[in-house]
Amino acid sequence: MENFNELQREILRLKKEKNALVLAHYYVPLEVQDVSDWVCDSFAMAQKAAKAENDLIVICGVRFMGESAKILSPEKTVLLPSMDAGCPMADMVTPEDVLRLRELHPDAAVMCYVNSSAAVKAVSDVCCTSSSALRIARGLDCREIIFVPDKHLGSFVARQVPEKKFWLHPGFCPTHHKITEADILAAKRAHPDAVFAVHPECGEDVVKYGDLVGSTAEILDFARNTDAGEILIGTESEIVERLRRELPEKKIYGVGSTFMCGNMKKVTLRALYECLRDEKYRVEVPEAELKAARKSLDLMVNS
Ligand code: 13P
Ligand code: SF4
Repeated sequence: MENFNELQREILRLKKEKNALVLAHYYVPLEVQDVSDWVCDSFAMAQKAAKAENDLIVICGVRFMGESAKILSPEKTVLLPSMDAGCPMADMVTPEDVLRLRELHPDAAVMCYVNSSAAVKAVSDVCCTSSSALRIARGLDCREIIFVPDKHLGSFVARQVPEKKFWLHPGFCPTHHKITEADILAAKRAHPDAVFAVHPECGEDVVKYGDLVGSTAEILDFARNTDAGEILIGTESEIVERLRRELPEKKIYGVGSTFMCGNMKKVTLRALYECLRDEKYRVEVPEAELKAARKSLDLMVNS
């Protein structure tokens, strides 16, 4: 059964039969987004998982998103369609790295980007997403912040919150990091009338050209609401595809040809169908880790 429509019909049937809540991130393929209950950025996904009433939650995204859903709704069964869908940035920081940074900077609070393992969240003070990072950093009652693992999001926040001292871990998203200043300048030359919306996981030399710097959902809202007829999108390719479909009256351009997260693309229709059919792959987080990580995630969700 590789016919998209047939797979989509089966997914909708299984979803209803099992009373499953399916949450998809905007970077998974559009045909998977189309059969989900909600399509979300990382912040909305965590909020929806925390409030879910269904006993079965399917997270169409990468592993840390499944772990966060389990931590926020531990009594629910949380499934991931692809267990191989990891996040290379999340793998760039370990709990030992965080503990070492804490020893070096004992007065600093540890702020951890949600793109991290449950074990790292468990030794952090508060989590954040790209849409909540500024608000959380400003609200923390401390003068120093250790930010892990994304050096680009961390330095973006540090530039907006100059009254605090930031200690950054050197992680990055390989997908967003790949885009260079030369790529942006070439795209701006090709489309001189376009406004530019960019994700803060990109480097400073790219983000500095942004008319909007924001999360996936903020980029979508900007594109929908701007008066500009041409928009250059500095984030993952599925956002470009989604906007082209949603806003046919506007010209939507991507930057570079390789702006794609291969891990998000592992969440195929077939993987989602088999996930619902066989109730696999179950996300489990060890009890002690779950309890410790929950504190920092709860602070984020309720911020
Ligand atoms: P947001 O959904 O918060 O924009 O995050 C983007 C991302 O890279 C998720 O892995
Ligand atoms: Fe991780 Fe980057 Fe893919 Fe997001 S886009 S899941 S940060 S590798």
